[in-house]
Amino acid sequence: MKYGHFDDERREYVISRPDTPLPWINYLGNEDYFGLISNTAGGYSFYRDARLRRLTRYRYNNAPMDFGGRYIYLRDNDSQQYWSPSWQPTRRDLEDYTCRHGLGYSIIGSTFKGIEARTTYFVPLGETLEVWKVEITNHRSAPAHLSVFSSVEFCLWDANDDATNFQRNFSTGQVEVEDTVIYHKTEYRERRDHFAYFACSEPLAGFDTQRENFLGAYRDWHEPLVVEKGESTNSIAHGWQIVGSHHVRLDLAANETRTVFFVLGYHENPRDQKFDPPASQIINKRTVKPVIEHYLNAAHVEEALNVLRNYWTERLGVLQVTTPDEHTNRMVNIWNAYQCMVTFNMSRSASYFESGIGRGMGFRDSNQDLLGFVHMIPARARQRILDLAATQMESGGAYHQYQPLTKRGNDAVGSNFNDDPAWLILGVSAYLKETGDWSILNEPVPYDNKLNTKQPLYEHLQRSFRYTLDRLGPHGLPLIGRADWNDCLNLNCFSEEPGESFQTTTNREGTVAESVFIAGLFVLAANELASIADHQRLADEATLYREAAAKMQGTIDQHGWDGEWFLRAYNAFGQKIGSHECEEGQIFIESNGMCIMAGIGLNDGRAEKTLAAVEQHLATPHGIVLQQPAFSRYYVELGEISSYPPGYKENAGIFCHTNPWIMIAEALTGRGDRAFDYYSRINPSAREAISDVHRCEPYVYAQMIAGKDAATHGEAKNSWLTGTAAWNFTAITQHILGIQPTLNGLQIAPVIPTDWPGFTATRVYRGVTYHFDVKRSGPGNTVAMVVDGQPVAGNIVPLTGKTKVIVEVTLG
Ligand code: BGC
Ligand code: NOJ
Repeated sequence: MKYGHFDDERREYVISRPDTPLPWINYLGNEDYFGLISNTAGGYSFYRDARLRRLTRYRYNNAPMDFGGRYIYLRDNDSQQYWSPSWQPTRRDLEDYTCRHGLGYSIIGSTFKGIEARTTYFVPLGETLEVWKVEITNHRSAPAHLSVFSSVEFCLWDANDDATNFQRNFSTGQVEVEDTVIYHKTEYRERRDHFAYFACSEPLAGFDTQRENFLGAYRDWHEPLVVEKGESTNSIAHGWQIVGSHHVRLDLAANETRTVFFVLGYHENPRDQKFDPPASQIINKRTVKPVIEHYLNAAHVEEALNVLRNYWTERLGVLQVTTPDEHTNRMVNIWNAYQCMVTFNMSRSASYFESGIGRGMGFRDSNQDLLGFVHMIPARARQRILDLAATQMESGGAYHQYQPLTKRGNDAVGSNFNDDPAWLILGVSAYLKETGDWSILNEPVPYDNKLNTKQPLYEHLQRSFRYTLDRLGPHGLPLIGRADWNDCLNLNCFSEEPGESFQTTTNREGTVAESVFIAGLFVLAANELASIADHQRLADEATLYREAAAKMQGTIDQHGWDGEWFLRAYNAFGQKIGSHECEEGQIFIESNGMCIMAGIGLNDGRAEKTLAAVEQHLATPHGIVLQQPAFSRYYVELGEISSYPPGYKENAGIFCHTNPWIMIAEALTGRGDRAFDYYSRINPSAREAISDVHRCEPYVYAQMIAGKDAATHGEAKNSWLTGTAAWNFTAITQHILGIQPTLNGLQIAPVIPTDWPGFTATRVYRGVTYHFDVKRSGPGNTVAMVVDGQPVAGNIVPLTGKTKVIVEVTLG
């Protein structure tokens, strides 16, 4: 069952009923100002950091689930009926409801008794504000006398404090109202140099800033007293809950359309010019007023929308493909790339499953996010790499997370996730392959943000490499620390206390438990580092890295192979995890995918053997589960993984992030049919038809789909912020379609399904636009390449000095 459809032409998903199984959301903003917006206009906004600079309030896990947002109310002043064009919060029966989620904007609206209202929400590029453009049409044959009420609830900046510190916060709230602008200035009187504002393009019939005045005592957002009566109270809030609501009266002739603009924004003043007059406590509005006026103007708003559309056309234009599969085309050309931008921006901080106060920017997460993002805006990827590296410690270890506002490592979570450092090598390598910008390696970067510790980025990579080698266990495999990629495989935790954090509790010294996954990751990363060293003509170092990789590979052969697949780990007692000898958890996806991606087993049949076992034990029609058999009880020596009921999350859920590793492994063994089959099983667009089962948005990946042991097999959770985005993008574009940046140039090595006649693609790479025309002449994967009419050996397109190159590829 579907709840909408894709409009590929406009790059939108069109939701045609408001009661989607879960809120289906979108993101506004791309640089400093961000918003989350659901299909019924729920959500919130923040400046840079969802925890520390939250503009509007949002209460997670509400009933209904999604409640609070950017709500518009309309009132028919003749009949006194009122409704919300976005359905929530009044939930009246609407006609013609649609929500069009596009790239950086959403358009939500409907018709009620002949009055159509549609609101376009977006953040203009380069601004710290959002525009609500509300178009209202009277389709009746008679004039309509309407009232429009806007509403937001302001958050007192620090979202965690806002949700907890009521003894203080109920007394601090302050506002100013001038002309049509409501200014939220809580704490501006003391240390803040920023305030929020909410402006309207029309003369006001009234306003409200105190929630209780707007809603009425003991009333809910679905029946605000002010809207019911059609009369604002012009309340000025003193403490309690600050809201912003404008009231505009609109008299519309038959068939008349009017547009009302609202602008919600964030503004900073220089610290010594906060007040006007200087000795007063009144906000200095001289710098903000021009910005507000600009965006209350219809022509400027239209222009900003066009700039946003063109921006996305350009970003997505870096890679466009036409394959025989519409789901592939739509995901690669539009939605997967878009999701990669969002995961790059948000890491794992703010979604409808991440509250914005829990997690900041993850070290391993952000490095992996780069894989799917770097081609779109290399300069931002560069800065991200430098920010990440600056949170690395002198030991080579890394803070697991950092706060985006401060860019400082998060002490509460700390370090010792022993896979973290290796991901930096892969992130930097992806950047180098895309850009060829070797200068990044010489950038001085501090450790733990201590300025006197700066060293070239290359040294950071070397420390990442040594970090693993300095921490080997009894079998010579890497010690796992608190966890590796699988945050829930906590082999040194041994927690018996309810509620204790599995990630930060460590009750064992950690000198025994080892990870085969990190071993595979190390082989991959060390070989990448060797290639980087080659390019810098550091032959000795390259040799050192290759030897270390080879040695680790030997250790995996000896202690990491279980006979039919790769082991997962050794626990704190030196016992195997992910072995046929185990009672539960006999085979895991991560070590198998990673070892094959590192090239292990590709020449001796073990890769095929492993993949056969993966297919037999882990594959389901909804994707590949993380491990089998699921853990049926809590194992103190395994940690959080066994805390989940079977089939969910890391305990045998379909953890989508890992599925592309198997797709890549299949492609590396030359089996395009199998790689593409796995790709299609979790492709959200390909699952659109079963939206009632999948339940999350059909246009983006979710972190998890419930596994075969779960009662709700096939149900997705945790959409949007997941490494699944970057890895699936990598799997389909670089390994299946085979358009792969390398240190030596752009490579074309497709491993596509045998029944595909071919595909075409355009890729902008290092300033050159490549047009690929791939045609199948036989069932294999051998590439014969003709570049601008000239046959060329190999599969790396040579640089010709031209800016447009036509590459014909025959696959046979
Ligand atoms: C989740 C993991 C996540 C971790 C973050 C766990 O509860 O299951 O997926 O990586 O929390 O700390
Ligand atoms: C989600 C986390 O963000 C990611 O870092 C981790 O690898 C996976 N969960 C698996 O635990």
